[in-house]
This record gives sequence, structure tokens and C-alpha cells, in this order.
Amino acid sequence: MVGILEDKDRIFTNLYGLHDWGLEGAKRRGAWNGVRLILEQTPEWICDQVKASGLRGRGGAGFSTGLKWTFMPKAESERPHYLVINADESEPGTCKDREILRNDPHLLIEGALIASYAIRAHTCYIYIRGEYVHERERLEAAIKQAYEARLIGKGNVHGWDFDLFVTHGGGAYICGDETALMESLEGKKGQPRLKPPFPAGAGIYGCPTTINNVESIAVVGTILRRG
Ligand SMILES: Cc1cc2nc3c(=O)[nH]c(=O)nc-3n(C[C@H](O)[C@H](O)[C@H](O)COP(=O)(O)O)c2cc1C
Repeated sequence: MVGILEDKDRIFTNLYGLHDWGLEGAKRRGAWNGVRLILEQTPEWICDQVKASGLRGRGGAGFSTGLKWTFMPKAESERPHYLVINADESEPGTCKDREILRNDPHLLIEGALIASYAIRAHTCYIYIRGEYVHERERLEAAIKQAYEARLIGKGNVHGWDFDLFVTHGGGAYICGDETALMESLEGKKGQPRLKPPFPAGAGIYGCPTTINNVESIAVVGTILRRG
């Protein structure tokens, strides 16, 4: 049956978990394909492509993802840059990120690498809802595969040093708010911060930070492959 979205246009092709979630299965579905070529482009080019795609943040506020990335400082300074992926998903009845985490985690890892390059970050934290125990185990297993295949890590095949850490949430709905999430990630009580400063100026550990939802990041590789 042909619906509004045709099957060939789908980005996530394993949401029901019918196929292999691991690296081999993900590669067969197209994940990690062409990432080396993408990282040969400039960060500005990647931001422009993501802006032009019309991708808007999937965490709720709907802000342009490519535009948000351009708010980060242009050059690497003495302060490291960070990408933080919001996998708190505590909105009652919401379970969209969960299916990505457990059934297509490599799309998220791939997107994390590309987005980090685009904002000149060498480190990314995934803040995952504390109750998502199975999802965290799955995600960590996928990250281990990516490290072992040298897709990520120091001296990886893509030429952009990149470390990815999983940290689990504090168990409060408010921790999904980006500023409370940063407090929680730093080990403090998950209470919102005042803005300004905005995360791109002073985020986690006082360093330039971009926070994006799981789905916003997991679609990036496919968007760039398709143009
Ligand atoms: C109370 C509250 C809870 C939120 N919970 C989540 C959440 O669980 N997951 C999420 O991605 N964004 C959540 N957000 C939105 C984040 O603050 C932030 O806008 C989002 O993670 C940015 O990512 P995006 O631009 O990719 O959408 C929440 C916001 C508020 C105010």
C-alpha cells in the first residue's frame, strides 16, 4: 500500500526490530556508508546541507538543527566543544527515541560522529532515560562494535577523533529540559539553569555545547547521503 510516506523514503527501516540491530545489519541497511566522504567536507558545508533539508529538532521545540549547529564557536578554542544527545524521553506516552535506541543504534552513533564534526566536538554524551535499561545495554553494545571496527574512537578510519559516552538520567521529567539535563549530567540536582548564557556559549562544564534529540541526530547520516 502506498501511504503519504513511501517505503523507499523511510529513514528508519528497522523500527520494529525485525532485522539485525548490530553493525553488520545496520551496514546492510546503509548505515556508515559514505561517512568518510561526508567528513571530507567542511563543517560549514554539513551545516548548510542540514539547514537546507529543513530538519527541525525532534525534541519538541522544532528549531532548525543546521542553524543551531552554526551557533557554536567557529574555531576550536582552548575550551573543548561538546555534543549532548537528549535521550531522556520522559514525556508520557512518547516512545519514538526508544525504538531507535534499541533497533537502529548505529544510525544514532553515525549521526553523533557527523554532528560532532560539524560543531567541532571530539566528545559526545548520550543522556539516556534511567528506566531505559535494556536500551542502554543495546546502545552500549553498539558503541562497543563501533569502537572495535574503528568507526569511532581516537585514530578512527574517518579521521576525526571522537569519543562517545553514555550516561543515564536522574529519573525526573524535568531532566529532559536541556539546561536541567546539563546540571544532571554534571552530577548535580536536575534543576533548570537561567538563560543566557545559552549552551553554545557555556554548556556542560562551562564549555560550548549543542544539545539535540536522538531522532534529530539519527537522521543526519541519511539526509547527507541523499542530499
Ligand atoms: C520540561 C521539558 C522536558 C523536555 N524533555 C525532553 C526530552 O525528553 N527529550 C528531548 O529530546 N527534548 C526534551 N525537551 C526539549 C529540550 O529542552 C531541547 O529543546 C531538545 O532536546 C533540543 O533538541 P532538538 O533541537 O534536536 O529538538 C524538554 C523540554 C522541557 C522544557
